[in-house]
Amino acid sequence: MCGIIGVTGAADALDILLDGLERLEYRGYDSAGVALVSAEAIDRVRIADGTHSVATLRTATEPLAGRSSTGVGHTRWATHGHPTEHNAHPHLDCSGRVALVHNGIIENHLELAMRLSADGHTLASDTDTEVLAHLIEEGLARGEDLTTAVRSTLAVVRGAFALGVMTTDDPELIVASRRISPLIVGVTDTAGYLASDIPAVLDRTRNLIALEDDQVAELRPGSVVVTDAAGAPATTTPLNVEWDVEAAQKGGFPDFMSKEMADQPAAVLDTLRGRRGPDGVIAIDQLDLSHDDLARLTKVVVVACGSSFHAGLVAKYAFERWARIPVEVDIASEFRYRDPVLDATALVVGVSQSGETVDTLQAMRHAREDGARVVVVSNVVDSSMAREADGVLYTRAGPEIGVAATKTVLAQITALELLALHLAQVRGTMTHEQVAVEFDELLRLEGVLAETLARSDDVAAVASGLSHATDFFFLGRHAGYPTALEGALKLKEISYLHAEGYPGGELKHGPLAVIEPGCVVVAVATGGPLKEKMLSNVAEVKSRGATVVLVVEDGDEDGAGVADYTIRVPAARDMQSPIKDIVPLQQLAYHLAVGRGLDVDRPRNLAKTVTVE
Ligand code: G6P
Repeated sequence: MCGIIGVTGAADALDILLDGLERLEYRGYDSAGVALVSAEAIDRVRIADGTHSVATLRTATEPLAGRSSTGVGHTRWATHGHPTEHNAHPHLDCSGRVALVHNGIIENHLELAMRLSADGHTLASDTDTEVLAHLIEEGLARGEDLTTAVRSTLAVVRGAFALGVMTTDDPELIVASRRISPLIVGVTDTAGYLASDIPAVLDRTRNLIALEDDQVAELRPGSVVVTDAAGAPATTTPLNVEWDVEAAQKGGFPDFMSKEMADQPAAVLDTLRGRRGPDGVIAIDQLDLSHDDLARLTKVVVVACGSSFHAGLVAKYAFERWARIPVEVDIASEFRYRDPVLDATALVVGVSQSGETVDTLQAMRHAREDGARVVVVSNVVDSSMAREADGVLYTRAGPEIGVAATKTVLAQITALELLALHLAQVRGTMTHEQVAVEFDELLRLEGVLAETLARSDDVAAVASGLSHATDFFFLGRHAGYPTALEGALKLKEISYLHAEGYPGGELKHGPLAVIEPGCVVVAVATGGPLKEKMLSNVAEVKSRGATVVLVVEDGDEDGAGVADYTIRVPAARDMQSPIKDIVPLQQLAYHLAVGRGLDVDRPRNLAKTVTVE
């Protein structure tokens, strides 16, 4: 996830920027850059050297030491455009008088870029960010001061941003603003600071303010003035920061897993951003498959490992119902050693958070050799899979540090459902209105997820009641089946307890034999066409002495009486339901693991990215 920092009024501005960027490295990044401003010029250095970028930047900027007391810096996690030097921030306008750093996504950047190019601007990068520098340039050319030019620019952009802007016209000033993406500003007697994240400036000042949406801050040495979108003075609340740097990196959460679970509403929403045009058409910019290619498809094959495989299993229901196309979902390590039947009418979708998992990568290579069209759903821009595939659909969950996948899985399901809707539009299997209903439901998940996350204490209470259990079955039907598989995997991964996920209907074909008192059955019985059948399966295990945990939607009393514990989730349409039903299962695994004193971020024997067979 991109990180930004800015400082004005400090003789050692460059060191402050570089130290701050180091503190932002934990967020994950692929490139970095700084710019220093004086009345004469903007000096800018950018480095695309993966996770060494900040160290390389430190060496490369040595000649700039002491050049200026005002500057901005950035660590980039690519979302639009490859992780190259020319896409790294800061970005400049045509005249080189404006420099800015940005965290977020400008949704209408394509239309703005077209208009700017037609008006004679030269855009030097493939990023969504750069349009901002040129729009501010136009404001300055109209005679606006920097603050006014930033405000008029923000009035025409859609999307999410936290940004810091400076100009040679007023070299002690940095203008900062935000919408959706977080931004803090701070002051001391002599300096002013901005950062996307508290750890970046925590050793410089604790006198910090979190900006609200659309507020604009003018930072000068020793002062900060905050105004609202209309330019009126704004009320601000100082942050009371008691964290040390490590706690601040986790956003104040005790571990990365809980921080990343809390990031889930944003991960889902960011993955949807800008992907439905004003005409209601689902547009996936880097898919690179023509409508003819998509219309010709005879099947979709999803290949993936681990949690990504479960995301693929959920997507099967969406592809088949919405786009009316047959779907196979295969474990990548099995697929690659089979002799799958593929040709140019098959679409093979690799799903991989890292884009590097060797089995998925090899499965996709195999598919390409067989002539299939290959796309990847990846969270890492320009990952190996993204570079090799015909098309890419990026999830925008930001870096995930906990080994057990959480927010990236929800973002993967969201992205795959987006692809299914796109395919449905191209193939004409859904009306415009039907697509709109499903897309709107995906958008609504942000609030649904926030509500689900807020109920963590209820799940913690269930976990504490189950603290002595050692055997768990997770049951689900329809799209609740992959949800159950993911719940069981989460529990295994971080709590080391035995857990199996099963389709509810399969119970009587084996697992019922091992159900006895002491066994815990977690049953996902949220909406969906088979809820009643699921409840009959629950009755079967209950009568054999299992302890039953029932996951049901608000207001649903159908399962009352069979459950020992009930976990309630807000309602959603059945196809989108797994995206929120997975959350209480993550929470259950989390609370059971924490109760056992385990390190949830670094489970034993497991790696975040598996690049060996
Ligand atoms: C490892 C991780 C899992 C992940 C799987 C697939 O096993 O621990 O959390 O689901 O790899 O990784 P990928 O990067 O391909 O999604």
